[in-house]
Amino acid sequence: MSTACHIAGLGVSVPENTLSNFDLEKIMDTSDEWIVTRTGIKNRHVLKDDENISQYAAEACKKAMAEANVSPSQITHLLVATCSPETLSPSTACILAEKLGLSKYTGLPFISENNPSLVCFDFNAACSGFVYGLELSRAFLALNKNAVILLVTAECLSRRMNYKDRTTSVLFGDGAGAAVIRAEGEYLFKILDVSVGADGDFKDLIRIGGGTDKKVQVGDTIGEDYFLSMQGREVFKHAVRGMAQESIKLLDKNSLSVNDIDLFIAHQANLRIIEAVGERLNIPQDKVFTNLEKYGNTSASSIVLAMAEAKEKGLLKKGQKTLLTAFGAGLTWGSALLG
Ligand code: UT7
Repeated sequence: MSTACHIAGLGVSVPENTLSNFDLEKIMDTSDEWIVTRTGIKNRHVLKDDENISQYAAEACKKAMAEANVSPSQITHLLVATCSPETLSPSTACILAEKLGLSKYTGLPFISENNPSLVCFDFNAACSGFVYGLELSRAFLALNKNAVILLVTAECLSRRMNYKDRTTSVLFGDGAGAAVIRAEGEYLFKILDVSVGADGDFKDLIRIGGGTDKKVQVGDTIGEDYFLSMQGREVFKHAVRGMAQESIKLLDKNSLSVNDIDLFIAHQANLRIIEAVGERLNIPQDKVFTNLEKYGNTSASSIVLAMAEAKEKGLLKKGQKTLLTAFGAGLTWGSALLG
């Protein structure tokens, strides 16, 4: 029998600063009408110049820990899903550990019988990050049923938008989310099953440069490849197919049908994609939750932002069957079932 896996607390935090379609109209050749019709997005939250995403991730973590009634000293794993880390090294997870005071209890010496160690790292599954994180959490709980996992999403793609590329730069916003995941104790939602996949053959469809693949020198000018580029139409097709197929696979594996699903939350990339996946799955519109009009595509954070709002509105409830599905760069994808 596999170890139980529960979400015991959920928290989100987004920058106060916003960028509306009307703001974008002032800096590029676009219109509110085009963006709303093609994507459903009206607004995004974006970092101010002197802000960083870990400060918002820390807020999200504090909310999730408070809801789960867990103190920082109880956290055994801090896993950060991000494709927009603050630095290549250290990880955003280690930056966040310091902000949350998780490192303090470890103290010196680093390894001591009295001080439980902290597993702390970033992982990049792009927009599928939260669903991948649920799968990682299940794996860590199978290794140690006493683990108390803080699964975090911290994304600030506004920092990698090329505002000369109007097709892609209107889509993304910033935001952070966190979930406390553990096996025992009070909980909000049970993670019933997760299924993830990837195909590197499509690695070039969505790309953010600025890594070590190119030799650069101090003083070099940043080129276009430093920013997010995407072959939108191609990604659109794969996203619809990928999320629908993975969801059907997961339902079949759990002997469930679409009729058993009470709520459907897909990665908030484009309203037309979500509607197309809903149609393929035959899910009635009133079971499909969206909030991308307020945030745009926040990559790994989008599902957590949607879950938190659906929970707040009384739409996401303990015991009801919720289907999550995500798709992103890599290509990566995944679906999860909550109950
Ligand atoms: O999170 C990772 C997953 N990402 C996604 O799922 C995104 C997937 N792709 C998409 O959501 C859509 O493909 C986009 C929203 C990126 C683009 O929508 P589209 O319906 O595929 O538009 P398009 O790129 O085919 O462009 C249609 C027209 C073009 O004009 P012409 O050539 O038909 O005259 C574009 O130049 O719309 C024009 N256009 C714009 N017009 C005003 C493109 N961007 C804009 C814009 N404002 N921002």
